[in-house]
Amino acid sequence: MRLTPPRKEELDPIEIASRDEISALQLDRLKWSVKHAYNNVPLFKERFDAAGVHSEDIKSLDDLAKFPFCKKQDLRDNYPFGMIAVPKSDVVRLHASSGTTGRATVVAYTQKDIDNWADLMARSLRAGGGRREHTVHVTYGYGLFTGGLGAHYGAERLGAIVVPMSGGQTERQVQIINDFGADIIMVTPSYMMAIAEEFERQGLDPRKSPLKAGIFGAEPWTEAMRSEIEERFDIDALDIYGLSEVIGPGVASECIETKDGPVIWEDHFYPEIIDPATGELLPDGEEGELVFTSLTKEAFPIIRYRTGDLSKLMPGTARSMRRMAKVTGRTDDMLIIRGVNLFPSQVEELVVQTDGLSAHYVLEVRREGTLDTLKVRVEQSLSGEAAPSTAMELQQRIKGILGVTAEIDICEPGSVERSLGKAKRVIDFRKG
Ligand code: DLL
Repeated sequence: MRLTPPRKEELDPIEIASRDEISALQLDRLKWSVKHAYNNVPLFKERFDAAGVHSEDIKSLDDLAKFPFCKKQDLRDNYPFGMIAVPKSDVVRLHASSGTTGRATVVAYTQKDIDNWADLMARSLRAGGGRREHTVHVTYGYGLFTGGLGAHYGAERLGAIVVPMSGGQTERQVQIINDFGADIIMVTPSYMMAIAEEFERQGLDPRKSPLKAGIFGAEPWTEAMRSEIEERFDIDALDIYGLSEVIGPGVASECIETKDGPVIWEDHFYPEIIDPATGELLPDGEEGELVFTSLTKEAFPIIRYRTGDLSKLMPGTARSMRRMAKVTGRTDDMLIIRGVNLFPSQVEELVVQTDGLSAHYVLEVRREGTLDTLKVRVEQSLSGEAAPSTAMELQQRIKGILGVTAEIDICEPGSVERSLGKAKRVIDFRKG
């Protein structure tokens, strides 16, 4: 049995308030947030002064566009605590990115921030059909990564039973899901595929597991992957988006009744879309880079943060708040193969739709002479050997649909490295 959407009475009133009410609340909060950032974070003071803008300039939401952007490098340059806006005694939690590329970035929370975040994660779970009687199995990593603890506090706030499993121990994940009767799993979509395989390896049918829904995020994933997960587990697969700099998971999350892109929790985060090349503001409906401004965060206010994520803003459906389109990729994940721009997610879509192949794949990019080449390494599915024509079929579809010539390497199940969290989809040999 699947989960049912929340009834109107179960929602926070602001989720279904009028657009005018939402905008009025946003404007009030925006004024506070911009002022708070200016008064307490040297970086924002310097930037706003240099741009000749002041918090008093915010008379309408559109005025935000006059303010300068900030980005990940700003956090790195201010490592570890340079952007914290409250006294140390008011900070109750730190999280940090892994720092695999460059210095780590550190983010901080007051008790109020943690409470708001827990409320938003509870709201996200509720949007996915979650209720207090459910058991929520959290497979996002616990620790400095925001996924595990963010999900954990949200599930507790909902009043559900939380199983703080974290990532890894795949064999045990299967056992605990079954024995503890998990209704909802929260995990990266790529690791969910590894869990599916582990069910099968143990001779168990994932469709017979107690799971009814999954809330997947932390990495780009496609509609094709959604269908694959839903079919394999007989569950609803929902998309949750977020990033540490803005709060962690729960910036936006999808509703089970529509599954049409994560609803941005606009009472706490103000979204914009810009042209990544020029920084120019784009209207709703056009694809570009997502930019977020926090409206309520105390310890770590962030004004016009360039996420690097490509998406577009869409009108509200199940809620009054706007939705974001599934993230196609990050500006820095875009590959340019012989002049053609390509995101790993576009290849994923085609791989997952090809019979005989699994969803475990990696793109290898090399430079041969002056030309870049692309190799798609993909595992054949566990259930049967890929036909000899499969590689050719995938190659032709990649060429026909994406315009790129790729070498296809169909390999044995298990030969593409599994990640316990975010999958690494590109190995770029050009970078040495
Ligand atoms: O990944 C927070 C999170 C945890 C979100 C669990 C959802 C679930 P970071 O490690 O700071 O935070 O990475 C943030 O991950 O800028 C996107 O590029 C990517 N990302 C997160 N959610 C999605 C999603 C967490 N649903 C970065 N779809 C973001 C596509 C996503 N990409």
